[in-house]
Amino acid sequence: MSVGQRGTAPTREQKARVDELRDAAFGAMEQAYAPYSRFRVGAALLAADGSMAVGCNVENASYPACICAERVAVGTLVSKGVQRFELLVIATEAAEPTPPCGFCRQVLAEFAPSLSIVSFTRSGVEARWSLAELLPSPFTPLFLHRS
Ligand code: THU
Repeated sequence: MSVGQRGTAPTREQKARVDELRDAAFGAMEQAYAPYSRFRVGAALLAADGSMAVGCNVENASYPACICAERVAVGTLVSKGVQRFELLVIATEAAEPTPPCGFCRQVLAEFAPSLSIVSFTRSGVEARWSLAELLPSPFTPLFLHRS
């Protein structure tokens, strides 16, 4: 299944998956370990085979060691042998829907350069992007073999 990019209305089936992933992302957000920033994030990542993984941010007293919710979800799917992603749903308690950070964009682009992304606030405000729109020129494995 694939979720419509900006400008295309999602089907009823796609909408149902988004609702399911939103609930899963908010559930994961509740598990966030964010004592330093107090900014809790949940993510739910849907794979092309229909499987799904969630993640939350996990902070550390050594601040640069923090890991984002999105990359936890990526690692969970990849560790199950799943590498084709279709939709990422992000949940936070921010006033505005938040996009994935730059590190997460690059990590997501490794597997799904045209991934659909939906971000929700607690009050139900949502924003949609494609990863290609958020990261138009990712560094891809192809560049490794061009020198
Ligand atoms: N964070 C995420 O989990 N995902 C993002 O895309 C943006 C930032 C986390 C990292 C850190 O724990 C907290 O939010 C504040 O930056």
